[in-house]
Amino acid sequence: MSKHILIVYATRAGSTVEVAQVIGEVLGGRGFEVQIKSVKENPAVDGYQAVIIGSAIRMGNWLPEVVDFLRKNQPKLSQIPTAIFTCHRLNTGEDAASRAAREAYSAPIRQIVSPQAEAFFSGTLDHAKLNFVDRMLAQAVEKSTLTPAGDFRDWSRIRSWAQTVFDEERP
Ligand SMILES: Cc1cc2nc3c(=O)[nH]c(=O)nc-3n(C[C@H](O)[C@H](O)[C@H](O)COP(=O)(O)O)c2cc1C
Repeated sequence: MSKHILIVYATRAGSTVEVAQVIGEVLGGRGFEVQIKSVKENPAVDGYQAVIIGSAIRMGNWLPEVVDFLRKNQPKLSQIPTAIFTCHRLNTGEDAASRAAREAYSAPIRQIVSPQAEAFFSGTLDHAKLNFVDRMLAQAVEKSTLTPAGDFRDWSRIRSWAQTVFDEERP
């Protein structure tokens, strides 16, 4: 019987859901039964054999609604394999400082769940999809860090991660 995997995502501007969908597509190709849900739907985790949780970063943090979801579901999530992914735009380098900075994004999450696997993916910054406040903030960050807007998602990296995550749970 196929194993059921839930992918829960949190997004503000819509690009993290597309990452969740590609991960789901690859897992589906590996024989898992995959459901992809926005955290805003408050999905139930009952009945799933593993859960992947992913979030965009805003001002150094996972989105608050996904942190609430994890806290609420922590007892159940501690009983099954979990994996997490973070979509972000800064600190994408392979140097120690970048690694430490991006690992700090998910450090509070790793206090709530103990993921079997974790990935950091370069995300997307599309000013047209941001509200006024976010656009102002993004422009200020882009200026101070010299990081341009654009779509920096590396689909082959995302697909490779999805090819190996939960390898030992193979249906
Ligand atoms: C207002 C704002 C703040 C952000 N803060 C950070 C940040 O602190 N660190 C980072 O690496 N990326 C930051 N980002 C980039 C987003 O995490 C990235 O673009 C992500 O892919 C957006 O996902 P979404 O389209 O699902 O909302 C920020 C983006 C915006 C618009």
